[in-house]
Amino acid sequence: MKIAVCPGSFDPATNGHIDIIERSAKLFDEVIVAVLNNPQKQPLFSVEERVEILKKACNSMKNVEIDSFSGLLTEYAKGKKANVIVKGLRAVSDFEYELQMALMNKKLNPEIETVFIMTSSKYSYLSSNIVKEVAKFGGCIRGLVPEIIEDEIYKRFR
Ligand code: PNS
Repeated sequence: MKIAVCPGSFDPATNGHIDIIERSAKLFDEVIVAVLNNPQKQPLFSVEERVEILKKACNSMKNVEIDSFSGLLTEYAKGKKANVIVKGLRAVSDFEYELQMALMNKKLNPEIETVFIMTSSKYSYLSSNIVKEVAKFGGCIRGLVPEIIEDEIYKRFR
């Protein structure tokens, strides 16, 4: 059984994230989307809200579970019996940071492989931060995030 963990902040989840989760679900028996609980950051959505949003957005994906975690990702993955960490990769600029994390995670637990899925080109410029920036100034974010949170993102900036 190949269980993959797809970790992230997901503040908020974008359609780029949903695309990576959907494609991961076709590659692995089970995908656990794990929302990082990071008390050091001031998020737009609470961890509980992010979990609920992802549950709704991934409702049709039967082998996808949504959860949250704190602490080390490798410890969380081990606890879930996951042998793969799956991450999306956009531009070359992502690579350096992702390589560093993948190598550190490999050092922490050599049994767990990090696998990268290349972004779909239509989402290659997308990030949670850029969505927040555009929404903050009233710009259009239609098609960039799950429809269920579009209005809520604008409300948070009012
Ligand atoms: O969506 P993000 O913010 O790029 O996700 C980053 C995440 C959650 C994958 C990363 O910060 C993480 O794994 N944090 C958990 C702490 C950890 O395990 N750190 C050591 C690996 S470098």
